[in-house]
Amino acid sequence: MSVRRKRIVGIGGTLRAGSSSERLVRAVLSACADAGAETTLFDGAALARFGHFNVEDTACTDEQRAFVESVRAADGLVLGTPGYHGGVSGLVKNAIDLLEDLRGDTRPYFEGRPVGLIVSAAGWQAGGVTLSALRGIVHAMRGWPTPIGIAINSVEQRPFDANGDLVDAGIDSAVSAQARQIMTFALEAHAA
Ligand SMILES: Cc1cc2nc3c(=O)[nH]c(=O)nc-3n(C[C@H](O)[C@H](O)[C@H](O)COP(=O)(O)O)c2cc1C
Repeated sequence: MSVRRKRIVGIGGTLRAGSSSERLVRAVLSACADAGAETTLFDGAALARFGHFNVEDTACTDEQRAFVESVRAADGLVLGTPGYHGGVSGLVKNAIDLLEDLRGDTRPYFEGRPVGLIVSAAGWQAGGVTLSALRGIVHAMRGWPTPIGIAINSVEQRPFDANGDLVDAGIDSAVSAQARQIMTFALEAHAA
């Protein structure tokens, strides 16, 4: 009997070339792919093409619809944001708000799914409070934040080399552990 590959969807990053939050989301997705997942990334550029969420306008662009459908079908997620002014960036939050379309599903929002969380900020304080804010968002959306959340300090830590490869052993090990937690939860929750 063939077992369907788990679908893990990554959302996040900024419009900055070499965005560290986006690279970390990619790194977690890549570790999930190594464990057998099929992965999809909605990076900063993709999020920037979405219009602003408007609660009074239910029309969707094709890209918004593909995004919502991808999250609807996901077995697990990775959310990554920079810490902007002490919180989640507008770009990432707008994408999350577009998931309001999942409200009436039999499995609403992120229900029953593990969600890995990533923050990159220039200071430890914004890293901590933004990670906490992301956890609050995932709880509000009925998802299961993985025990391992990753917050990096992009001033004190340089996790990537000039080629964009993850070269910090500690962060690499957190990325692997988070991916393992996402995959374990996804496999156990949806064993079909
Ligand atoms: C508009 C803006 C607001 C920011 N606000 C904060 C902040 O409140 N605290 C902080 O530590 N870093 C702040 N930063 C720094 C970013 O969080 C940091 O550079 C982060 O690593 C950027 O992520 P990226 O590499 O994915 O672009 C801010 C940066 C910008 C552009």
